[in-house]
This record gives sequence, C-alpha cells and structure tokens, in this order.
Amino acid sequence: MRQAGRYLKEYRAIRQKVGFLELCKDTDLAAEVSLQPLRIVGVDAVIFFSDILIPVEAMGIGVELTDKGPELPNPIRSQAGIDRLRVPDPASTVPFVGSILKKLRSELVDQVPLIGFAGAPWTLASYMIEGGGSRSFGEIKGMAFREPGTLHNLLNKIADTIGAYLLFQIESGAQVIQLFDTWAGDLTRSDYEEFALPYTQKIFEAVGTRVPRILYVNGAANILESMARSGADVLSIDWRIPIAEARRRVGGKLALQGNLDPCLLLGDRERLLRNAEDILRQAGPAGHIMNLGHGILPPTPVENARAFIDFVKGYKHQP
Ligand code: CP3
Repeated sequence: MRQAGRYLKEYRAIRQKVGFLELCKDTDLAAEVSLQPLRIVGVDAVIFFSDILIPVEAMGIGVELTDKGPELPNPIRSQAGIDRLRVPDPASTVPFVGSILKKLRSELVDQVPLIGFAGAPWTLASYMIEGGGSRSFGEIKGMAFREPGTLHNLLNKIADTIGAYLLFQIESGAQVIQLFDTWAGDLTRSDYEEFALPYTQKIFEAVGTRVPRILYVNGAANILESMARSGADVLSIDWRIPIAEARRRVGGKLALQGNLDPCLLLGDRERLLRNAEDILRQAGPAGHIMNLGHGILPPTPVENARAFIDFVKGYKHQP
C-alpha cells in the first residue's frame, strides 16, 4: 500500500521545498522518501516513491498534482486523442524510475524487499478520461457503454505501456511488483471482466513469473473470483470483506494481502490492535501479508502506525 506521505513530518519537510512531481523525478530525494517508512515506523518492505500517473505523463498527457489530488487538464475523449498517445520507452522517458530503484537496491542490500508498482489500465484510463478523480466515473463509463471499441483501444495502449514499464522496474531492481486497479471495484462483475481483467492479465503475462505479482482493487468483494484469474500471485484487498471469507472464495493457491481499515489508525489504540489481531487470526499463518486495506491517511498519528507494526511483528500464531 501507499506508505510514504504526509503523515510523516520528515516527508512534509521535503515537500515544503519541492513539488510532488519534482520529488518523484529526483533520484536522491525520492530514494530518501521511500526509506522514511522503513526507518521511522519499521515496515518490512520498501515501495519506491513515485505515483501511478508517472507513466501516464510519459504517454504524452499533462498531469498536475493539486491539493485536491491528481488533475489532467486535457482529458482523452476521442479516438483522435488516443491516437496522439505514445507507448513510451521507459528507459528514455522515465529514466529516474530506474535510478531510484537502483539506488534503493544498493542502499537496502537485501535488508528488506523492494516493491515496484504501476496503475492498471482501467484505473489509469479513468484518470485520463475523467481528467482527475471521480465519484461516478460518468465519462469513462459513458465511453465504455457508447463506444466500447474506442475505450478498448485506450486500455490496450495503456496495457502495453505498463507491461514495458514494470519490466523496466524489475530490470532496475524491483523484487516484487504491485498493480493498483484502485477504481475497478466500482464496476459490475461483468464490466470488470470486460474492461479491466483482460488488461490485468495481459500485463501479468508480459511481466512473467520472475517476481511475485500483487493485484490490488479497492472494493474487491464483488469481483474476488475474477481477480483470482488475473495471473496474480497475491490479491491485496480492502477492509470491507472479512479476510477469512476472501480466503474461502479465492481458494488456497493465492496469497492474500490486507486488510485493516486505514481509519483504524486514527482511532483508539485498543480497537486498532483488536482489529489487527482479528485479521491475523482469520488469515492464519500461511499465505498472508499483513497490510492496510488502502493507503495510510495524512492525519494518521505516527505512534499508531508504529504500534500497529510492532504488534504485527510480535504476533505469534497459535500452533
Ligand atoms: O511510498 C509509497 O507509498 C509509494 C508511493 C505511492 C504514491 N502513490 C505517492 C503519492 C503509491 C504506491 C501511489 C499509488 C497511487 N496513486 C494510487 C494507487 C494506490 C491507492 O492508494 O489506491 C492512486 C489511485 C494514485 C493517484 C493519486 N496520487 C492520488 C489519488 C493522490 C492524492 C492522494 C492524497 O493523499 O492527496 C496522489 C498523490 C500522492 N501520491 C501523494 C503521495 C505521497 C500525496 C502527495 C503530496 O501531496 O505530497
């Protein structure tokens, strides 16, 4: 999950001096920010600091990050807009991604694993078509239901971009990759299978089996069985579904990641740890990566994040 960010004063201090996209492109600062959660709260994997919109910008569409989240002032609304996008070569368009990963690998010397990531086509297309975050996804779904062929052309172009982008991350040192299809949980099951799953499958096929592959969807309860057919090795799930139920539905072949409600980190310590323990007990000793069900929120007290992590590290499953 997203683990760096504004809940850390050390992150805010750096962000006072540089813009967000600038930070993503500065090898030294991005590596520093990637390592902050390891040093400060003691997580046991590092995810390189970047954003899912970095390869979108490389495809040739302007991206800005405002206080309200990502904004794309010139959204894609037609085939002509799609034709203007390129499938970028990562080494020449986003070389900083390679440098950040290489630097992190050399600093970590296998102390903890290094995670690479990207956005999945449905989620990236939703930003490209909506022009930013959305509640109803009216623009992308309008295109899906009015001219599905046009949307499929865009999704294919994004899938080709992301396949190459993740391979570049692996060549640069990523030891695990996570694909975020954050907004695909908004789709009906059949629309998920038409507009999201095939592109996730295409990307995991392109990446191959050299590193473990994690798939995240926010609001996954409705589509778990479909996600299990994506080719992922691990399904990362949100907090709305009990993890024992997810395990029953997915079967024993895939690992699960999750799924504490990030808002529990804003609440009472006892309730936080009780919920964490419940997840650990339900998930059992094998095939589970303890994590939040979505990214950590800016108002999170650092002591609560640390208490959660210490508790999980100290937990022993009953024999
Ligand atoms: O260290 C890490 O955790 C890795 C960094 C990371 C970021 N974004 C940094 C970031 C990762 C893995 C992402 C992924 C991402 N970005 C997703 C998928 C994961 C998820 O949370 O569902 C999505 C949907 C985005 C798009 C995005 N970028 C949004 C919605 C926002 C605004 C969120 C907010 O809290 O304001 C961003 C900006 C962003 N990406 C921030 C960070 C740390 C906050 C930027 C800042 O103001 O400093």
